[in-house]
Formats: sequence, C-alpha cells, structure tokens
Amino acid sequence: MLVPAIRRGLSVTPKTAWRAASAWAAVPAGPPDPILGISEAFKADKDPRKINLGVGAYRDEHGKPYILGSVKKAEELVNSTNPDKEYLPITGLPEFTRNAALLAYGEDSAPLKNGAVAVTQSISGTGALRIGGAFLARHYPHSKTIYLPVPSWGNHTPVFRDSGLEVRGYRYYDKNTIGLDFEGLKADLRAAPEHSIILLHACAHNPTGVDPTLEQWAEISDIVKERKLFPFFDMAYQGFASGSTSRDAAAVRHFVAEGHQIALAQSFAKNMGLYGERVGAFSITTKDAEEKARVDSQLKIVIRPMYSNPPLHGARIANTILSAPSLYAQWEGEVKGMADRIINLRDEVYNHLTHDLKTPGEWSHIKKQIGMFSFTGLKPEQTRALAEKAHIYMTTDGRISMAGLNSGNIGYFAESIDAAVRGKL
Ligand SMILES: Cc1ncc(COP(=O)(O)O)c(C=O)c1O
Repeated sequence: MLVPAIRRGLSVTPKTAWRAASAWAAVPAGPPDPILGISEAFKADKDPRKINLGVGAYRDEHGKPYILGSVKKAEELVNSTNPDKEYLPITGLPEFTRNAALLAYGEDSAPLKNGAVAVTQSISGTGALRIGGAFLARHYPHSKTIYLPVPSWGNHTPVFRDSGLEVRGYRYYDKNTIGLDFEGLKADLRAAPEHSIILLHACAHNPTGVDPTLEQWAEISDIVKERKLFPFFDMAYQGFASGSTSRDAAAVRHFVAEGHQIALAQSFAKNMGLYGERVGAFSITTKDAEEKARVDSQLKIVIRPMYSNPPLHGARIANTILSAPSLYAQWEGEVKGMADRIINLRDEVYNHLTHDLKTPGEWSHIKKQIGMFSFTGLKPEQTRALAEKAHIYMTTDGRISMAGLNSGNIGYFAESIDAAVRGKL
C-alpha cells in the first residue's frame, strides 16, 4: 500500500509541491453593478442624514422595507396547510400562472378565453425576460434583433444579448423636455426592419418614469402593425404607475385587442413586494389551443436546462392573493397605497423646489413622471456632489427611486438638490 510522504514522516520538498497556474489568471475584473455599487457606498457612509435613492425597492414612510398585509395573511394561509416542498412542474404552479395571465390580460381577453395564451412561471421579471429572449432567439422565424427604448432598464441589454438576440435602440427620452421623444420613437419604429422585435415597458418606464399616453399607445400599436413588428412587453410595475392594476395593463390589453401577438414578462417583485421570492411569469399569445400546446412544449425545452423548475413558496403566496377575493381586494388597496404615497412625494418634491426654495429650473417633470422612478435631469457632476457632500445616493444619470423619500428626509433632500443646482454644495 502506498503511504503518503507526509504520513511516513518525510519532508515534502518544494519540488514535489507542484502547483498549477490558476485557470482564472487571465480573467479580467468586471465593472461593478452600477446600482448595487450605490448600495455598497450607501452602507459604508456613516452620516445620519444619508439617503439611498438608488435601488428600485419600495420603502415605507419610515424608510423601511414593506411587507404587504395581504402577503403576510397569504403566507399564514399557505403555512397553515402544512404544504409539501415537492418540485413544481417545469412551467410552475398552474393556478398561479392562470391567475397571473388573468391579471395581465383581463377577463375579456380573447386569446385567454380561447385557451391560446402559453404561460409559464418564471424567476421574477428578469427570468421572464430571459425565457422570452431565449424562446424568441430559437423560434421567432423572422428576426433576431430586439429594439430597446433609449434609455432602458440597465439589465435589458445583457439579458437579451445573453439570450442570443442582437440589441439595438429606438429613441424614447428627450433630454431637453425631460419627457417622451414621441416623434423620434415613431420615426425609429418606422425605420426598423419589418418583423423586428421591440421591447415596450408596459407602464412606469424604468429609468425615466415617462410613459406614452393612451392615445400615443394607440399610435404605437398602429406602427407596430404597419411594420409587422413583434411587441415584447415588460410589465414589472403593474399597479405601481396609477394605483390600479387594470389601468396599468391598458397598453398590453390594447395591443391584444388590436390583434397583435405579444410576448409578456410579468414581475410580482414590486406590486406584491415579493422581491427576493422571485415570482414572475412569461407568456406569449398564440393562434389557438393547438398552437399554444406546441409553444408550451418548447417553453419547457427552453426552461428545463436553465433551472429545471421554479421556486414554490412565492408562487403560492401570490396565487393565494390572486385567488381569494378578500385578499385580492386588500392587495389592490395596498398597491394603491404604495402608488399614492409615491404620487404625493412627487407633489411634495415639486412644491419644495418650485415654491419654497425657488430652485432654478423647471421641475414639473417630477410631478408628471410615473411609477417608482424619477429622472431628475441632474447632471452626473451634481449627482456625484450630492453623494460626496450631502450623502444622497442616486444613479449618475440622475434617476431617483421616489420611494426612498419620506417626511423625515424630503426637506433635506430638496435643500440638497437646491444647493447642487446652485453649485453651492
Ligand atoms: C423594467 C424592469 N424590468 C424587469 C425588472 C425585473 O425585476 P425582477 O427580476 O426583480 O422582477 C425590473 C426591476 O427593477 C425592471 O425595472
């Protein structure tokens, strides 16, 4: 029997202590995630006045994470049934996906009534986008190019690029008006090659907070039809924009009623506050039940090698809320409460800047913008000064998450913005 040198009491000479060069010696350091980097800097800041407006997670009036009452009750109900921890099917909890689709498309939706919506549970909104990207890259026969609004959520480009699509942009935001560049948007969609895929934020556009009006959506729908484009909706904030889940689904429902086939990514991170539970859904409308069954089978083939099947607990919570009328009503009230708090904060910031402080510039965009985020129009050097001197953290493009404000910090926030704009920080 061979006894290792060490156990035989022999010393191991450097000659025998062979060490390979690391396989990762040439791996370059990647850039830090721009948003999570802000949270790191915020954590390290010891100033008691510090404010984190970087991360897109709702905070309550005391700046604390908010667990919805409906979610707490649903979780108790789920736990009271002593549920098992078995695997879900590849496409997730069937009752949940049915209810998620109903929430998005509405009960009058023709493809839903005809059993023609292929839907799968996903790992929140990001996972839904990734499934959609991979499915389209493999099965959409006409194009491998997706057009994103400029700017868009920072993760859209890598999600779609890693899914195998080529990513291009269409004009969306006008720096001068701090609003929608509707003419640019229309011109770019008209100029896109026929059948291209276009990504549309269903509501509460991230990062700008600028949404098309219903009339503008109708025009966009017409152009999409004219150019035979394929609309892929990202609906990460249903309910957060207006406080009404059905009003926020108006663009999606209009496109479906107009006869478009669509893809849709849904997230329950924001509207149910289920961030870390990773609850979402991806769906695609098809011609009929037979086509849907074929699409379903291919969705499974896309998903199975990615993660086999989705997580259970959050889907059970979301489904309990979506299927119990009293919990559903409570949840709708809570979504409205979150949306209203943000809308009120917008008014307050506007009033502080415009009326109290007479801050140079025009600030009505803060009131007009929609959803969790506001594009303040602050310049990168101003956002840097705000972080370094006033301990207020936001992305360098001037985006703030409105929910990070509250009655305790909004005055200090407005005064700091005022000082930054006047170059007095
Ligand atoms: C526009 C948009 N889409 C999708 C997501 C995905 O979020 P999650 O994966 O947490 O559901 C986000 C989150 O910030 C978002 O802003």
